[in-house]
Parts: sequence; C-alpha cells; structure tokens
Amino acid sequence: MKKKQKIFEKFHSQLDLPFLETDNELLEEIFQTLEAKFGLKTNSNQKFVDLGAGNGNIVIYTALNYNIKSYGIEIVHNLINEAKIKIKSLKKEGIYNKSLLKKIKIKLGDFYLLNLKDYDFIYIYSLPSMQKFLQHVFITAKKGAIIISHKYQLEGFKYLLKDEYRLAHKNDKQEIYSFFYKKIS
Ligand SMILES: C[S@@+](CC[C@H](N)C(=O)[O-])C[C@H]1O[C@@H](n2cnc3c(N)ncnc32)[C@H](O)[C@@H]1O
Repeated sequence: MKKKQKIFEKFHSQLDLPFLETDNELLEEIFQTLEAKFGLKTNSNQKFVDLGAGNGNIVIYTALNYNIKSYGIEIVHNLINEAKIKIKSLKKEGIYNKSLLKKIKIKLGDFYLLNLKDYDFIYIYSLPSMQKFLQHVFITAKKGAIIISHKYQLEGFKYLLKDEYRLAHKNDKQEIYSFFYKKIS
C-alpha cells in the first residue's frame, strides 16, 4: 500500500510541476542579481538549493561559477541520471578543478519532504497552481534565507518579505520575471 501511495505521489508531482528549464541567459541575470543585491559570495560557506533540479543545470552552474555548496533535489529518475552523466563528463574533461565539482550534490527525492534550514539561497521554478503546497516547505528555511521564484510570484506567504525584488528579463518576444524574497520570520 505504502509503495502504491509513493508511486501515486510521484506521478502527481510530475503532473503538478513538469520539467521546464530556466534559460541559461536568464540564469546569469539571476545570479548577477543575487551577487549585487542579496549577498551571494564566491568561495564562501553559503549553500544553494534548487527544488526540482531537473537536469542539474542550475546546481552545476552555481558550483562552477561561485564555488559554493550546491544541492539539487529532483523526483524524476531520468533527469537525475542526465544530471549525473553531465557531472561525470565534466569530471572526465578535467577542465574544472575537482574541488569545484565536489560542491555539487544532486539527489532523487521529494522537495515537499525537505528541510531547508541549512540553505542561504533557495531556487524554485514552480507553477502557481501548486504553490499552496509549498507553505510548509518554505517555513523550514532559516530567517534571512533568500528564495528565488522563477517566472511566478509567490502569493500568500506571510513569513516572506513581500515584493522584495523583481527582476525583468527582457527579450523581443516577451517579458519574464524572477522574484526574490527574504524569509523574515
Ligand atoms: C519547472 S522544472 C525546473 C527545473 C530546473 N529547476 C530549472 O529551473 O531549470 C521543475 C522540476 O521539478 C521537478 N519536481 C516536480 N515535483 C517535484 C517534487 N515533489 N520533488 C522534487 N522535484 C519535483 C520536476 O520533475 C521538474 O524537473
């Protein structure tokens, strides 16, 4: 019974939030904002987490560009495998220092069950329809943690500083935003 329940929950999670990738160009802008406005520091003890890490792109980017501990949790097995293959091939290429690659941790799991107390920066690309289920997740973050919500605003989170910062990503077709919040209690 428990196993069936787990399979159902996993299936549901994928329906609620499918894999959509944050564009690499936008990622640069997001991290520049984190540096300029929210105290992200290269070579520091800060910790980053991507909730629903997909193919690992963001956690790899964070570790390689900022040399901080970078953790990803993802519920889809194939995506985790894809991320692991990428990390392996980076190791083989030998371009990056091994110590940088050791900063990347990516695991199969459910972010609804994750305690966020250790993280300074929490990234999520979620959909408005499932955000109500994130109340109990973000409440575990420490005071002062920065939560980045790509594309969609987080509504109704009393313990997050409302409208902390909104970054507009402009191109000729459309305007996309990333939203930054600080945990205040
Ligand atoms: C919109 S994608 C974002 C991927 C990546 N963070 C990015 O921005 O490029 C959301 C990811 O969350 C994963 N996901 C959905 N529900 C999840 C859950 N409960 N626990 C962990 N990952 C989940 C999906 O499989 C998908 O890969």
